[in-house]
Amino acid sequence: MRPLDAGRRRRRSLTVTSPRAEASLSVPDILPSCRHEFPGGTVLVCPRPEAELLAASRIADLVRSRTVEGGRVVLGLATGSTPIAVYDHLAAWHEAGQLSFGRVTTYNLDEYYPMSPADPRSYRAFMDRHLFHRVNLAANQTHLLDGTVPAAHTGEHCHDFERWIAADGGLDLQLLGLGRNGHIGFNEPADLPTDQALALPTRVVALHPTTRADAMKDFGAEANVPHHALTMGIAAILAARSILVLAFGSGKADAVAQSLVGPISARVPGSLLQTVSSQVTWLVDPAAASRLF
Ligand code: F6R
Repeated sequence: MRPLDAGRRRRRSLTVTSPRAEASLSVPDILPSCRHEFPGGTVLVCPRPEAELLAASRIADLVRSRTVEGGRVVLGLATGSTPIAVYDHLAAWHEAGQLSFGRVTTYNLDEYYPMSPADPRSYRAFMDRHLFHRVNLAANQTHLLDGTVPAAHTGEHCHDFERWIAADGGLDLQLLGLGRNGHIGFNEPADLPTDQALALPTRVVALHPTTRADAMKDFGAEANVPHHALTMGIAAILAARSILVLAFGSGKADAVAQSLVGPISARVPGSLLQTVSSQVTWLVDPAAASRLF
């Protein structure tokens, strides 16, 4: 398999290959029917396995092209069920000797609060399991907000987190999932003027009831789900040089449509991505896209 180099290609000519896939997928073959432009950005509608492979290829392309040039890459990563197969592809390419993370630095979107990184339900443990421990990413290359910081120091910690990202040169690519309620990171729907929402910093937030209900599967019962989390702010997310949003399944259809074609509003945090639409690509399956057309 030849390495991909998206840095020198336009999105239209991206070739997608996987050690797991017998045949390679070529975007030009699927693009004419699946590529759409909406106020919220470019949207590729394709079956979930293809979307996952495309997302992983886009990340791998970026890492490879920068590594070849001797540079570094700063990735913003997400947890949740959505990106798991993307991480599987990246880990498989690494295991096959086709992808190195030696020059990669990562920052994750969020962490429950309070939460110990040693807790298997923590997002640190999630990332270790699904990606970090499967590839050559040492602990000092990966950064998650710390769910053990004393309450009086969370503000300072969140501010430091943003400073570290800036000191590393900013996020080259932010991977995002989308909450059923339209949240990005754990920036939950809010009654805020849009300009204030766009400036929201990295901070402690109260989790929305929908978010806590969705997290129940990981915590056994809703009563066990933390009420708070630390999240990268809207401003830090939108500052990423490119943003890849993944959404799969009919449960995301409303949030996808509201984010892409609804009014820009803090009530649907995904809609705030419309303000930076030229840097946003959405990869959605037909079920998640079902309210768009
Ligand atoms: C996770 C995150 C959340 C999830 C969203 C979707 O780091 O920031 O915004 O992306 O809640 O979760 P899943 O993928 O489980 O549907």
